[in-house]
Amino acid sequence: MERVLVTGGAGFVGSSFVRHVAAHTDAAVTVLDKLTPAASPESLAGLPEDRVRLVVGDVADPAVVDPLVGEADAVVHLAAESHNDNALEDPAPFVNTNLVGTFTLLEAVRRHGVRLHHVSTDEVYGDLDLDDPARFTEESALRPSSPYSASKAGADHLVRAWVRSFGLRATISVSSNNYGPWQHVEKFVPRQITEVLEGRRPRVYGDGRHVRDWIHTEDHSAAVLAILERGRIGETYVVGADGERSNLEVAQAILRLAGRDPADVEHVADRPGHDRRYALDAAKLRTELGWEPGYHDFEMALADTMHWYADHADWWRPRKAAVEAAYAARGQ
Ligand code: NAD
Ligand code: DAU
Repeated sequence: MERVLVTGGAGFVGSSFVRHVAAHTDAAVTVLDKLTPAASPESLAGLPEDRVRLVVGDVADPAVVDPLVGEADAVVHLAAESHNDNALEDPAPFVNTNLVGTFTLLEAVRRHGVRLHHVSTDEVYGDLDLDDPARFTEESALRPSSPYSASKAGADHLVRAWVRSFGLRATISVSSNNYGPWQHVEKFVPRQITEVLEGRRPRVYGDGRHVRDWIHTEDHSAAVLAILERGRIGETYVVGADGERSNLEVAQAILRLAGRDPADVEHVADRPGHDRRYALDAAKLRTELGWEPGYHDFEMALADTMHWYADHADWWRPRKAAVEAAYAARGQ
């Protein structure tokens, strides 16, 4: 695998994956990214220019996608509209990018016979009750409950159908919630970190008892590379690191790490249709591919992430005002 095309490689998870490939392989990487407001081309700065190039374009545009796929040995597909709250405001770009974009890529990959890895989300499985001991596995049914997760589940269905019907050489990974550097301030962890850095209170939707299964984005990137290199064609791999925590617990940890009163949390309007709990069992990835997370201490990694945000205010501060204005308009 000498030439890898990474769609969405200027985003949070995509740029982490590109840094991981640059550090752990000799492959040349082409990033295809539309540079939506979620993107951070700054996150690719400093990578070797002879090995990493950025092409600005739309994954739903066949004229852009086809030649790039034609010159690649493998494609890793991360380009997506990724934020649930944005999908509730306007689902149209989610259908265009996540569904039509995936379809466009699948057709190019089929034409050129190129290996594909598709990056998906645990949200395709819907949610679990708080008192349900179950966790999602590769065998769980796709039961998405939000416009974002429905668009991702639709993309997963397309990939599975192209594998079965056209013999496409593809794999799928289904990850839980990521945290780490370069995550857009619209997302929960960076929003709360930057609120606290600005001297304000974390804002938790509803009762704050909703549970997410946190994984460091570098662990997610290592899993994606392992699946790309050694995963069985046609298989799905769940990617999780046993990181279940309620939103309230995460907000309280951020306050504690900042030396503030952990009870100083503000409860705001809930997200419509808010999924209660996600939890993943990544036994297949661990036993089949030998993947293990490198980050075991959530509080310590959260502290490092807070330091990173404190050191990168020049990057997030210009984005923060627009994000907070949109949240304020919704009472959040
Ligand atoms: P992000 O919003 O930070 O990045 C998405 C990137 O895709 C951005 O750089 C954006 O410019 C680009 N993009 C959007 N529309 C595009 C288009 N039409 N053409 C080309 N590029 C386009 O998202 P993220 O959090 O980095 O998520 C990346 C992928 O990982 C998504 O597919 C998401 O569903 C999946 N995922 C994310 C998480 C998480 O916790 N962040 C967890 C599981 C799966
Ligand atoms: O589970 C994987 C998914 O995780 C990815 O597929 C998505 O791309 C990613 O955005 C993330 O989705 P969530 O909706 O879980 O993430 P978000 O950061 O938006 O919210 C995490 C939890 O925190 C969720 O229960 C909503 C809540 N929340 C969010 C914000 C922004 C708050 O309580 N307050 C907030 O201010």
